[in-house]
Amino acid sequence: MNKTIIDVTKTKETISRYIYGHFAEHLGRCIYDGMWVGKESGIPNHNGIRLDIVEALKALNIPVLRWPGGCFADEYHWKEGIGPDRNRKKQINTHWGMVTETNAFGTHEFMELCEMLGCDAYVAGNLGSGTVKEMQDWVDYLSCEKGTAMSELRTENKRPQPWKLPFFGIGNESWACGGNMTPEFYSDLYKRYQTYVRSYPGNSVRKIACGAYDDYYNWTDVVMKNASAQMWGLSLHYYTRVNNNFSEMGCSHEFTEEEWYKIIKYSYLMDEYIEGHSRIMDKYDPEKKVAMVVDEWGTWYKAIAGTNKRFLHQQNTIRDAVSAAIHFNTFHKHNDRVKMANLAQTINVLQAVILTYDDVMIKTPTYHVFDLYKEHMDNTFLEISAETSDYLGLPETDTTASLNSETGTVYVSVCNSNPGKAAEYSIEILGIKGDSKVSCRILTGSEITSHNTPENPENVSIADFKDFTVNANKVSCMLPPRSVATFKVY
Ligand code: AHR
Repeated sequence: MNKTIIDVTKTKETISRYIYGHFAEHLGRCIYDGMWVGKESGIPNHNGIRLDIVEALKALNIPVLRWPGGCFADEYHWKEGIGPDRNRKKQINTHWGMVTETNAFGTHEFMELCEMLGCDAYVAGNLGSGTVKEMQDWVDYLSCEKGTAMSELRTENKRPQPWKLPFFGIGNESWACGGNMTPEFYSDLYKRYQTYVRSYPGNSVRKIACGAYDDYYNWTDVVMKNASAQMWGLSLHYYTRVNNNFSEMGCSHEFTEEEWYKIIKYSYLMDEYIEGHSRIMDKYDPEKKVAMVVDEWGTWYKAIAGTNKRFLHQQNTIRDAVSAAIHFNTFHKHNDRVKMANLAQTINVLQAVILTYDDVMIKTPTYHVFDLYKEHMDNTFLEISAETSDYLGLPETDTTASLNSETGTVYVSVCNSNPGKAAEYSIEILGIKGDSKVSCRILTGSEITSHNTPENPENVSIADFKDFTVNANKVSCMLPPRSVATFKVY
């Protein structure tokens, strides 16, 4: 039996909308084909940006988009991606498949995409192979209104007014692809580079330092000790894999129950890592002024057979949906420290929310979890007390709840991780009015490997769920196996 008790009078901090953020890198078919097809394409677009993906991401209220990497960020030289097409310099994307990067999608295209999506830009700067001056110039070009050579260059490139630049990252995975640095060396460099990342009049830039991966706690310790006073946020990367050995990472859409279980089990490692890194951050920052920014997370499998291995193209099943729900519940629980998270990666790469096949676009099960959870953005987190049944040593269900203080509506999201058994589930809500109404939307699949394809794009999609009873302030149901649901109590 899975019993959840929620007291709406016991409210906590706000759930930051930015934990529903996304990450898009110049990697495989994320940008080219995924977001950008060029003005001449027969696929409906605005200045080369696909209109179908804009509509789909807007429907999720996408709050923030991180770009251009990833590992690519530390070999990206932004001046090669501005101005007329003929001036764009080609380069080899050395990290991701040695393919030609045309730089057709650059600063203007990215900022225009953010404007079309109505989301905030999170630009990742190059500390690995770029100079301090190059980074300083980029921030100037993006956000300084006038009176500098960079603002004049931007005007020449037909954008007189500056953009808003709310988030700027200084180095990515500087312990590996971003320069193979020690935390001591990185924190010194960070302090130097960040000095010249200026907030020009009318813009306030929040600086995000490169953080650790998994349980690399010493990185967090050293960087916090040396540089916490100069940052808005510190990042954390964790990918959920069946096996960290790249040749044994398993297939995204053909797998056993044992592999299902492993992904669920390793999804809970996010909680362990956030707790571990938070403890260290608390040591140097007890007032929790520095945000934890989980700017890369998601499942990672072997690339689909027949595709370029370095394009990291995988399918997305109901297993990924349940994993995403566990991650969101974890981010909610740590809302006092976790202020942003960015799924890797938005389109066609890793745990994408969208897959494109020429002019066809499909939404993945993970897309639908973002849809089920979007109501929690900026709501007040509600503490819950839960008793759960056991699924091979893991909680069978995992619940989170929030209150929209303006409307008084309570949202309860829950996943049943059990791949083969419905869960007996109840929610008791204390402190709500007696005549409240309840509705529920659910996502499930007929198989553990259920996924969407161009031929069957709605195979896994959200449906109304009415199979519950309401008795006073208690909702009870049998929650279908391998499912994610959101109850609305209003
Ligand atoms: O998301 C794919 C890669 O994973 C990113 O480029 C890098 O930051 C991480 O190792």
